[in-house]
Amino acid sequence: MSQLPKYNQTGQTIIFAFPNHDLQLSVLTSAIIRVFENRGDPGQSYAIEGKKEQPTDFTLKAVGDHYELTTADLLVKIDSDQHVDIYDATGNPLAIDYRGKRQLLDKGVDKVHECLVEAEGHSVSGSTTGADSSYFQVVKSLAADEHLYGLGDKTGYLDKRGFEYDNWNTDNPAPQMENFTKLYKSIPVMYGLKNGHPYGLFFDNPYKSHFDMGKESPNYYFYSAVDGNLDYYVLGGKTLKEVISNYTYLTGRVPLPQKWTLGYQQSRWGYSASQQEVQEIADSLKKYDIPCDAIHFDVDYMRGYRVFTWDKDKYQGDPKKFVTSLKKQGIKAIPIIDPGVKKDPDYDVYVDGIKKGYFVKSPDGKVYINKVWPGDSAFPDFGRPEVRKWWAHNDKFLTDIGVGGIWNDMNEPASFEGPIPDEVVFSDQDRQSTHKKMHNVYGHNMAKATYDGLKKYQDKRPYVITRAAYAGTQKYSTVWTGDNRSIWPHIQMMIPQLCNLGMSGFSFAGTDIGGFGSDTNAELLTRWIEAAVFSPLMRNHAAMGTRHQEPWSFGEPTLSIYRKFVKLRYRFIPYLYDLFEKGTKSGLPVMRPLVLNYDNDPRVRDLNDEFMVGDSVLVTPIVEKSETKRLVYLPAGDWVDFWNNRQYTGNQDIVVNAPLDKLPLFIKKNTILPWGNPVDHISDEPDKTMTFKVFGDQGSYDHYQDDGTDFKYQAGEFNHYTLSVNDDQVSVQLPHHGFKPAYKKITVELPDKQVILSYDAASNRYQEK
Ligand code: GLC
Repeated sequence: MSQLPKYNQTGQTIIFAFPNHDLQLSVLTSAIIRVFENRGDPGQSYAIEGKKEQPTDFTLKAVGDHYELTTADLLVKIDSDQHVDIYDATGNPLAIDYRGKRQLLDKGVDKVHECLVEAEGHSVSGSTTGADSSYFQVVKSLAADEHLYGLGDKTGYLDKRGFEYDNWNTDNPAPQMENFTKLYKSIPVMYGLKNGHPYGLFFDNPYKSHFDMGKESPNYYFYSAVDGNLDYYVLGGKTLKEVISNYTYLTGRVPLPQKWTLGYQQSRWGYSASQQEVQEIADSLKKYDIPCDAIHFDVDYMRGYRVFTWDKDKYQGDPKKFVTSLKKQGIKAIPIIDPGVKKDPDYDVYVDGIKKGYFVKSPDGKVYINKVWPGDSAFPDFGRPEVRKWWAHNDKFLTDIGVGGIWNDMNEPASFEGPIPDEVVFSDQDRQSTHKKMHNVYGHNMAKATYDGLKKYQDKRPYVITRAAYAGTQKYSTVWTGDNRSIWPHIQMMIPQLCNLGMSGFSFAGTDIGGFGSDTNAELLTRWIEAAVFSPLMRNHAAMGTRHQEPWSFGEPTLSIYRKFVKLRYRFIPYLYDLFEKGTKSGLPVMRPLVLNYDNDPRVRDLNDEFMVGDSVLVTPIVEKSETKRLVYLPAGDWVDFWNNRQYTGNQDIVVNAPLDKLPLFIKKNTILPWGNPVDHISDEPDKTMTFKVFGDQGSYDHYQDDGTDFKYQAGEFNHYTLSVNDDQVSVQLPHHGFKPAYKKITVELPDKQVILSYDAASNRYQEK
């Protein structure tokens, strides 16, 4: 072992002088430490905005053959061979550099045959493609008892151990199964539970990167990137929840959404080809008594797929009139906007973009053209601040029409005429860069521009939905998981996908309910609406040319069951809204894997067919064809069957019957839940009454209320209610009354009685009638 390197300390940053590269450690907080090796890539993070460093006490000393940096939560050891080993405050190993050599998987194939296999489109995993001089890897030891999570919505299971994944935003319409290594998003944060001890690692590098989560070897996992700096953050915390709070502190938290965005949304590629068709959908929703808050307008509403146009011929000359009339019917219009701008000298957005030099260019200086829906298209250079501003300004076209939000698609960016070459010139803020670097943050920057546009021209909390994303996009946009299929493996995958997305900061997410590609069927659609009743984003969407999957498409009993669950969703919206509000402060997701709430329980570390909503609702849907009963694992505590109040003790498996119309649902005993009024749409009018249901005989609950639409809550215009129930004694307090129209009446439903309280304005108190 060579000598310990010299180091230099400035504030909370220490630079160790190693022969090849300096290694920099920065203490941001006691539980967040950045490990950085400058490999010459300029620029700033897209994921992390603003100053995150807080004054933090730490010590640094040489101990034998290594240095030890100690904070209240973490211990980092650096030795003379540049190993970086991370322990928690009590010395439990968390992320320890692997000392051995990687053992490439022996696939029994030489280079020549590897090329041959790849020529047919099959990939040979573990091949070292991309390993040029700027390639680097970080290899960490795996314990026998170590489980791995995170990485956004990658396919497969909750526990990522044993699989490999790539970060290169990709639009691949083939059925996305567990062998898929990449999808539309790159969210390079991973969490480990090593011998029960939680930690996280966030690799902030937008270049193409790879995670091998112990597939190659049970002894290690590794991260590699084809270029860029070695730049990762160690995330500590006593619980997995604390680790996730730390990650979302770093990359940002989902802002409070408009309340109606938690309502049911109906979509299908094709509806928006005519006003009549959209109106028919709105009429059917009403006729069949399906509550709904939005209809999405896919690419067909535009004039020849030109973004920021609306084909007036298809909308009786006046799209604004139609959108306004829809709004009066309680339904918001959410149009899609893709990044590709049609190459057309008679189209103002294209002409303006060309004149201003806002599109990405080939290395020879010509505007780079590839094909998407409109045919030949140019791609806005979203890395540049002025291009984002320009795009945001274009949003005014849509906000003037009165849309409720904007759906950003194809922003990986997808291209139909082969992939965009690495060397196409993109900007990294004001610096010239390449597609190679900017690809994975393209959707992020587009979503951010869209958010800014909506905020500026609507003065409401922006509702953006994006397909492509990078770590940190959660600050600007909700996401959906892209083009899934109407197949059972995809309703199954929804659970781990949304749970891992939530743990990766993306609390506001959903899948296409019913499945996007392929033909759904009555049973699958029914089970999907049941399983997705708590999906933070709740949208039924399907591809053009597939079998119809609107709630009424299969007649009875599908329609009635579908209706029952959409109505149930609306009852839970106040609870979901409360969870979103709490999430703005804690960074914890709404929809959670059980391991997040019970990280000490080995039974839940790879549980793929159950999830929780907040801390107290346990959802155990049927996601298997023809099943009408299932095994449910109840974690610690006592549980109440939502449907019949039967009580169970936890830490056991029970068998529950679940005929087609039943979603097995359990509420933690002694939980109070707000219970929304039955409505067809979330109204702009404040609720005059609210009901709370008590599961058990006591409990307490914090409830939040505001106008559900704008930013006035930030100036204190919100109400905070606290409820407590103890031995039949019910009390409701209003510790913060900043939103004028407080509930006039509050009903508390106990298992055997109802207590009604009314608001007395003079005393600002709730009193039993
Ligand atoms: C992409 C989207 C899908 C959309 C379609 C047409 O496939 O993922 O949701 O319907 O494009 O715009």
